[in-house]
Amino acid sequence: MSLRTVTRKLGNELLPMLSSTSRLHSHATSFGFKEVNEEEKARMVGNVFTNVAASYDVMNDLMSAGLHRLWKDRLVSKLNPFPGMKHLDVAGGTGDVAFRILETINKVKLRGLRDVLEDTLEEETQIYVCDINPSMLNVGKQRALERGFGKDRSLVWVEGDAENLSFKNDSMDGYTIAFGIRNVTHIEKALNEAYRVLKRGGRFLCLELSHVDIPIFKELYDLYSFSVIPAMGELVAGDRESYQYLVESIRRFPPQDKFASMIVNAGFQKVEYENLVGGVVAIHSGLKI
Ligand SMILES: C[S@@+](CC[C@H](N)C(=O)[O-])C[C@H]1O[C@@H](n2cnc3c(N)ncnc32)[C@H](O)[C@@H]1O
Repeated sequence: MSLRTVTRKLGNELLPMLSSTSRLHSHATSFGFKEVNEEEKARMVGNVFTNVAASYDVMNDLMSAGLHRLWKDRLVSKLNPFPGMKHLDVAGGTGDVAFRILETINKVKLRGLRDVLEDTLEEETQIYVCDINPSMLNVGKQRALERGFGKDRSLVWVEGDAENLSFKNDSMDGYTIAFGIRNVTHIEKALNEAYRVLKRGGRFLCLELSHVDIPIFKELYDLYSFSVIPAMGELVAGDRESYQYLVESIRRFPPQDKFASMIVNAGFQKVEYENLVGGVVAIHSGLKI
């Protein structure tokens, strides 16, 4: 038997053994209502966002009747952005939250404070948009150009995982994550990372599709979610499955109180949440003290 045949035979026998060993170390997790292993979930979530990137903005407007814009405004108003801040927007995808933060900071500057602040500030404003999916980041970069932020050095696009951030400890004044944490495989890890990168006094804010607890509204919302949204996904984005995942993943996400306790467990204090539209979305916040 030639050396090549021996190597191939060994490879054929060893590879399945190695992959079943790695499966032994991988835990089951949810992908919507399906049970999958952890590696599979990250890959499947990646596929969802690669598939929806091009139609993401249109679908967001359609599904929420434009309300996602107000929810993001609310998120940013709670952050209270200021010139010179270092901010990290995780799962920032198409840049929606980051643009709002920059616009708010630019308004503060325009109110006459610009010269004073720029003289006194040692550091420039820096808004990092971190997302695991290059397709979503590309849509964001394109939108930045269209909105006149193309040359803005304050905006930094970073490909990265919420569970394993490349930023230094205690380096950020603020951390936001909008409609992102539901998609990560280990929510606890993402929360621990948020805590790690924030400075003392830094604020954590999370906007997420959450749980409705008002009887008749809940039934109507379920009907809308499970019947209308996947059909809309199929019609507009040509992708029913990604939107089926979206609605299922919302139901699998921890309810508001449970999620608040996870934020406390990560070390945050003054943890609270605000329900919007009866809990269709919630904004959770916490401080690193
Ligand atoms: C529903 S989009 C939200 C985009 C944006 N924040 C918004 O509100 O319009 C969810 C984003 O989370 C990103 N994402 C999913 N898992 C991630 C992870 N582990 N780390 C960082 N980003 C992730 C996806 O690539 C996608 O861009």
